[in-house]
Amino acid sequence: MVKAIYPGTFDPITNGHLDILSRAALLFEEVQVVVAVNVRKNTLFSLSERLELIRDCTLHLPNVHVSSFEGLTVDCLRRFGAEVVIRGLRAVSDFEYEFQMALMNKKLDPGCETVYLMPSEQYTYLNSSVIREIAALGGSVSEFVPHAVEAKLRKKLGAPHAPIQTVVPPKGRAKLPKKTKPRAKKS
Ligand code: COA
Repeated sequence: MVKAIYPGTFDPITNGHLDILSRAALLFEEVQVVVAVNVRKNTLFSLSERLELIRDCTLHLPNVHVSSFEGLTVDCLRRFGAEVVIRGLRAVSDFEYEFQMALMNKKLDPGCETVYLMPSEQYTYLNSSVIREIAALGGSVSEFVPHAVEAKLRKKLGAPHAPIQTVVPPKGRAKLPKKTKPRAKKS
């Protein structure tokens, strides 16, 4: 009966986050997604928008709850009576930062355990900034985020660009406009 928290900025939540979350929901009694009020990050979505999107996308996971936190992850962990911090490990490049964070959290609270889950292969290169960038430049992100997130991104950043259309000139000689007869001069 172990409770876990899944902290992050989630600006916005992606299919990669959801992949980690659905696995965590199978492993733990309860998973609390805790959205960081991250002052270091200039977020596209407000805190309430991020919370709403995560709630919309996790309705199918009954033991997953969503809230926000400010301050230390370990304090948040205690507040929820949880013992485990869930993190996704996407690539080797994540390791150094994650290693430091896990050790520091353990130092701050010896009862804090960090459990790393690896996302499915197709999500290993995802992060929220790349999603925001693709959407802002008019690309489609439908493969990478849930529908609700895609719709919200479109609303905020505008519709994806229409495919570029090349204008093909008509075959043969272009018809010149018909000459109109000069008007007879009035006598
Ligand atoms: N799928 C897709 N994207 C993922 C992902 C996954 N499985 N896992 C992480 N990411 C992305 C995030 O979307 C984020 O993208 P972005 O930087 O483009 O916005 C990026 O990877 C970094 O994620 P993460 O390291 O989780 O950062 P974060 O901003 O989401 O959250 C906190 C960081 C909140 C966990 C961390 O700052 C924290 O613990 N803060 C509290 C303060 C504290 O306790 N400090 C001491 C700890 S040592």
